[in-house]
Amino acid sequence: MINDLWYKNAVVYCLNLSTFMDADGDGVGDFKGLMRRLDYLHGLGITAIWLMPFQPSPGRDHGYDVSDYYNVDPRYGTLGDFVEFTHAAKSRGIRVIIDLVVNHTSDQHPWFQEARRDPKSRHRDWYVWSDRKPANAGTGMVFPGVQKTTWTHDKLAKAYYFHRFYEFQPDLNTSHPEVHAEILKIMGFWIELGVAGFRMDAVPFIISGKGPEVDRPVEHFDMLRSFREFVQWRQGDAVLLAEANILPQDDLKYFGDDGDRMHMCFNFQVNQTLFYALASADTRPLAKALNATEPRPATAQWGLFLRNHDELDLGRLTEKQRRTVFAAFGPDPCMQLYDRGIRRRLAPMLDGDRRRMELAYSLLFTLPGTPVLRYGDEIGMGDDLSLPERECARTPMQWSTEPNGGFTKAKTPEVPVISGGPYGFERINAAIQRRNPESLLNWMERIIRMRKECPEIGWGRFAVIDAGDPGVLALRYDWRNNAVLVVHNLKDKPCEVALDPGPTGGSPRLTNLLSEDHADVGEDGRACLVLEAYGYRWFRVGGLDYILRRSDL
Ligand code: NOJ
Repeated sequence: MINDLWYKNAVVYCLNLSTFMDADGDGVGDFKGLMRRLDYLHGLGITAIWLMPFQPSPGRDHGYDVSDYYNVDPRYGTLGDFVEFTHAAKSRGIRVIIDLVVNHTSDQHPWFQEARRDPKSRHRDWYVWSDRKPANAGTGMVFPGVQKTTWTHDKLAKAYYFHRFYEFQPDLNTSHPEVHAEILKIMGFWIELGVAGFRMDAVPFIISGKGPEVDRPVEHFDMLRSFREFVQWRQGDAVLLAEANILPQDDLKYFGDDGDRMHMCFNFQVNQTLFYALASADTRPLAKALNATEPRPATAQWGLFLRNHDELDLGRLTEKQRRTVFAAFGPDPCMQLYDRGIRRRLAPMLDGDRRRMELAYSLLFTLPGTPVLRYGDEIGMGDDLSLPERECARTPMQWSTEPNGGFTKAKTPEVPVISGGPYGFERINAAIQRRNPESLLNWMERIIRMRKECPEIGWGRFAVIDAGDPGVLALRYDWRNNAVLVVHNLKDKPCEVALDPGPTGGSPRLTNLLSEDHADVGEDGRACLVLEAYGYRWFRVGGLDYILRRSDL
């Protein structure tokens, strides 16, 4: 069971092929390049790769506009290269999950082209049409600011089509039985080629009723069950990780009361309150979000992240909280994406302050769920705010001090490598950090090792422990008679806390898992901890350094 549910205690690394490693020298990353870097990823300790879209696409939304679901964009390689890659990853014990973008296609997809040309074509009903401009056309945009409508007129079709995202991403009519069957077929295809699951894009929209008359879309949660059933029929340990920015009251609808829908969902509540906590040193909203998102089936898991390839969405915070985060991490309008969020990478948001970066990652690795890292964050890469929209945080991986950061032999990579300044490749790159035992990269490797040795966090039940200070977050995890206590000081000042860690199994010792600075629980049942500014501690409770061997359990 523990090994079957591998995703409960995994460490996921997300990357974009086009900006990871270019082997053929055309300025765009590819599968051959990625394969050359698998040993690096293996060394870092990650256990799964989430590969962003790599199928043929006009590339108007970084591949989230697919024009052929059954192929590899020739710029990245061939289907053969893909299979070589999944095989090479597997041989290093790394699973591969891929993006499944089926809420919409590219407008260049042959299905849409046929549908717009011929109202009688087989694919017409695969999309969502209206003869007249629907009254709701000015509502429900995901990209307000750049997107003016959700219904666009198509001259050839002589009708309006629905698009939740950009106008070049027509929505599929996902409740049409043939579309549903096609989605399963796409999943089956990639499972056959070696993937261990899918990051499902835009899940709330996939399951929403769509149409000109639909003002309050009803969600068809049964669809999630059928996706789950299908992937598990085809491959027992394949997982579905949902991108669904939802409220806690809906969590169980996505996971399924019996754990029969999504295996994993990204925890946007925790993500946003975590950034608020980092900005304000007030951990109370974060603790509230942790408690609110705690109920979930035993087999389900949260996906946790700090930054991803999109903007840091702050839509779930109160206006006041949002202003606090903007002021701390994105004060300049050029760092913001309309009023939606902040488009920067983590390191510059935290002023490159190593203490704050360690604090943020230590939180990522110890909050309840499976951590999802983004390429380049392990070395503290920055952003290029001169690039438009979300592209500023999607620049090539910085491997070394070689030209273009060792990413490509081409003179001019398609996306410029960050050069010069505190985040340029000359200073921030994997090669330099690999050689320096004190580097962020080597710290990350050590913390990942420890996270993997703490299955309590992935599997256990947690409780927020009262540290008597809103600037300090203390969590205890219990799993099979083992317990871990993690304590974080989010303030820029040192502090002392006395907390009751709960039962210690007879030994008063709290064993520090990261240094020799152990602590003891006193006769009053409290442990006194002195934490430096932005300090963090990981303890195993009850004098244990290692978890009891499984056979002892
Ligand atoms: C969510 C993805 O994360 C984002 O990058 C993309 O633009 C939209 N879905 C549309 O597919």
